[in-house]
Amino acid sequence: MELITTLPIPARGTLLTAEQAMLLAISEAYKGATGASPNPLVGSVVLDEQSRFLACGYHEFYGGPHAEVNAVKNLANEDLRNAHVFVTLEPCAHEGKTPSCAKMLAKFPIKKVTFGLIDPNPLVAGQGADILRQAGIEAEVFSSANPGLAQEIKIKLEEVCEAFLWNFRHKKTFVALKMASSLDGQVALRSGESQWITGPQSREYVHYLRACYDAILVGKGTIEFDNPSLDIRHSEIKKKNKVVVIDGEGELLTRYAKLKLSTLHANDDVFWCVAKEMREQVEHTLAQNSVRPQIVYVATKVGGDLDLQDLLAQLYTKGLRSALVEGGALTASSFIEHGLVNRLYLFQAPILMGSGGSKSWTETVRVPVMAEKIQLKNPRHLTLGDDFMITGTFKKDL
Ligand SMILES: NC(=O)c1ccc[n+]([C@@H]2O[C@H](COP(=O)([O-])OP(=O)(O)OC[C@H]3O[C@@H](n4cnc5c(N)ncnc54)[C@H](OP(=O)(O)O)[C@@H]3O)[C@@H](O)[C@H]2O)c1
Repeated sequence: MELITTLPIPARGTLLTAEQAMLLAISEAYKGATGASPNPLVGSVVLDEQSRFLACGYHEFYGGPHAEVNAVKNLANEDLRNAHVFVTLEPCAHEGKTPSCAKMLAKFPIKKVTFGLIDPNPLVAGQGADILRQAGIEAEVFSSANPGLAQEIKIKLEEVCEAFLWNFRHKKTFVALKMASSLDGQVALRSGESQWITGPQSREYVHYLRACYDAILVGKGTIEFDNPSLDIRHSEIKKKNKVVVIDGEGELLTRYAKLKLSTLHANDDVFWCVAKEMREQVEHTLAQNSVRPQIVYVATKVGGDLDLQDLLAQLYTKGLRSALVEGGALTASSFIEHGLVNRLYLFQAPILMGSGGSKSWTETVRVPVMAEKIQLKNPRHLTLGDDFMITGTFKKDL
């Protein structure tokens, strides 16, 4: 989930421009990154009638109060007289797990609500704004007189709820790819050895990322070589996660009970993706197993590889709105090759592994001419100890 670029919360009474208020609302939204799914990350900031900071809030966890509710909860009616509320996404019009935010805001003597993005659902888009206007509150989409800043904020507004927008528009699981690589793009030795490429700060950050996505996805090779736990081990985050394994022929199912991940995760939290054609054989294997993960039967392509588009559509129907693909080399390469990676997190360590005896994370990707090179959009960087992390998006549009 993006880089942690949390802005400090200003002292009450600090003057803020509209741009500063919206950037602070975005920063607040990211604080919900490990809990909000399947809801979007949303942040909100309240200024008084003289544009002085009053309060802020964010949507912390699914089923919990929305950002606007948290932003106004400690303010008195008098504080809110002629106040200006900034929120990253249009206040919701409908009653879901919580009451409508637009109706809640409409009860206060607020002057104006500025929201970053219109609700992506065309059936309800604009309805939150209408509720506010009917109550005599101005409601506007964010704009800025500074075109450079306006563009920068628009990109950040889309990025902060990128998984939600992607889910809504494509009904497929959002894919983030994390790879730990050497300077020369290698992610493992051919022997299978790959620990450790990056340092402890990068590894701690990866555990934070694991908590930001609904599931961790790996290929069969990673299970065979590493027998990984694939759980979240972070000093400040306690969360159970789901795991997806791609094992087209279901080969590893015979040893499922002996794998570390089967002892650490509930069977219902593990999704084993196998080819549809293998159904009979897989059912036979499972009949002899004392423990069994959930099986996802996936369509295959010519050549027998799983159709990753079908796989992502099926994971979506099983409630997995986002996945962090963690490798290995061939799995990462497959997702890149088929244009299925939304966001990349590449952790590069200051080491060389040489291409003679190692595996690269773009092993099967071919770029025939430079005009077809695969460009990372809106790249950002972070230094983690001696490592360097770059993140950005591969998709043209969400
Ligand atoms: N540096 C890092 O960030 C990192 C992260 C994770 C793992 N690793 C390392 O990477 C190495 C493992 O990489 P790897 O390339 O050997 O294995 P892998 O990517 O973990 O698994 C590859 C296998 O997954 C299956 N697979 C992947 N995409 C598929 C598709 N579209 N359809 C069907 N099956 C698909 C295939 O199984 P079949 O053979 O059955 O077709 C393929 O052989 C290990 O050494 C591990 O330590 C490094």
